[in-house]
Amino acid sequence: MNAFERYLPQIIKSLKATYGTDFFNSLTLQLNQVIGADYTFIAKLDAKRNTSRTISLVAKGEVLDNFEYSLHNTPCADVSGDAVCIHPQNISLLYPDDLLLVEMGIEGYIGTPLQDSEGCVTGIVVALYKNKIEDADFIASLFELFSGRISAEIEREEKQQQLTKLNATLEEKVQHRTAELSDSIENLLFTQDQLIEQEKMASLGGLVAGVAHEINTPLGVAVLSSSIIKETLFKLSAQLNKNTLSKSELENGLHKIKEIERSMSQNLSKAATLVRSFKQVAVDSNNDDLATLDLTLWLSGLVASLKPTLSNQNITIATKLPNKKLRFITYPAHLSQVITNIVSNCAMHAFDQCQASHIHQIQITLKTQKSGVLLSIGDNGMGITEDIKRHMFEPFYTTKRGKGGTGLGLSIVNNIVKSALNGELIVHSSAAQGTTFELYLPSRV
Ligand SMILES: Nc1ncnc2c1ncn2[C@@H]1O[C@H](COP(=O)(O)OP(=O)(O)OP(=O)(O)O)[C@@H](O)[C@H]1O
Ligand SMILES: [Mg+2]
Repeated sequence: MNAFERYLPQIIKSLKATYGTDFFNSLTLQLNQVIGADYTFIAKLDAKRNTSRTISLVAKGEVLDNFEYSLHNTPCADVSGDAVCIHPQNISLLYPDDLLLVEMGIEGYIGTPLQDSEGCVTGIVVALYKNKIEDADFIASLFELFSGRISAEIEREEKQQQLTKLNATLEEKVQHRTAELSDSIENLLFTQDQLIEQEKMASLGGLVAGVAHEINTPLGVAVLSSSIIKETLFKLSAQLNKNTLSKSELENGLHKIKEIERSMSQNLSKAATLVRSFKQVAVDSNNDDLATLDLTLWLSGLVASLKPTLSNQNITIATKLPNKKLRFITYPAHLSQVITNIVSNCAMHAFDQCQASHIHQIQITLKTQKSGVLLSIGDNGMGITEDIKRHMFEPFYTTKRGKGGTGLGLSIVNNIVKSALNGELIVHSSAAQGTTFELYLPSRV
């Protein structure tokens, strides 16, 4: 049995399933023992710095600490130049400037290059002897035999390190991006809140401007009336003091005051009515108690109460209601206000431009729906243009400014339906068929 046959199976077995530092140390220990070298090591080369750093170093059957050395003037430099380097003896004489070799009293040197998968020399396996090497060829062949496996392990380890590093940077990047993303989301939410706030302020501003505008006229008349009354009273009392007030002057003065006072109280009560309707814009459910209704019956009653006013305006109102009781829980005052507003809108706006022969009709339909009802209120009038449709729910939007409209009706309807009644409101309109308001209302329990 030759030396190969004797040692190989044992070395190969011991390397099974070992990786990295364990693999290098285990192999160096075995090789060191088999070849009887004083020092055996595996080292990685750094071509840029012209240095070599051991990754496993064994002496006298022991693993020693790794170290780095310069390749300058060493036999290792020749190995790294892609050649096996065998010097059975006199190595210190051949490389007198390699002080380490000289100091260690090294006599024999065998070095084998390690090539990576692209053929570049990335490391070396070296055996150092203090005596002359007897079986140099066997040692060189053994080194060459394992060089491929060592190179592969060096490469694998480097790839592994790169991968770990890459993973770490990737994780760092992901964390960074996640932080950036959550910052952006936070900013976005902040901006959204700001926009909502701005929108609220803008509509509040519009509301205040509208309120001011509407109240200004009656209040202005009232203020003017009051100053005229004051002036008239002042004149009368001055004349009275001077004893120059005639009966007819007194009667005229009193008549004027009476007239102006009437206009003043009319305008003040108009202002008071406006304030009452403004208050309804902000729907307050506390003003209305929840009640369980038979909605069919309740609706018939409401329609009956609207009929006389409508018939005075030559408008007929018809209903299509279910033939049975319909138990429904809602805020009746709010619901009544919604229906009344929509119906009075039909009466006030829908038939403005209709021909005299046109039969003005309003139709109310009630259908049950999943957990609620669908209430449609429609007219066969002139319809609503897209432009009006866009604005009609805004407070104070009216096409009848100065002709009895304040533009609060639909804004109140919208508020009540959406907040107090928790429902939805859709408008369908066409010039040919008129306008229908569809209310989906859930039962409140
Ligand atoms: N059935 C309808 N047909 C045609 N136009 C309508 C109808 N209902 C509402 N409109 C239009 O929508 C506008 C807004 O209605 P909204 O009820 O808010 O105000 P208004 O009726 O003008 O005034 P207010 O209700 O305060 O007396 C109306 O001015 C009108 O132009
Ligand atoms: Mg109205």
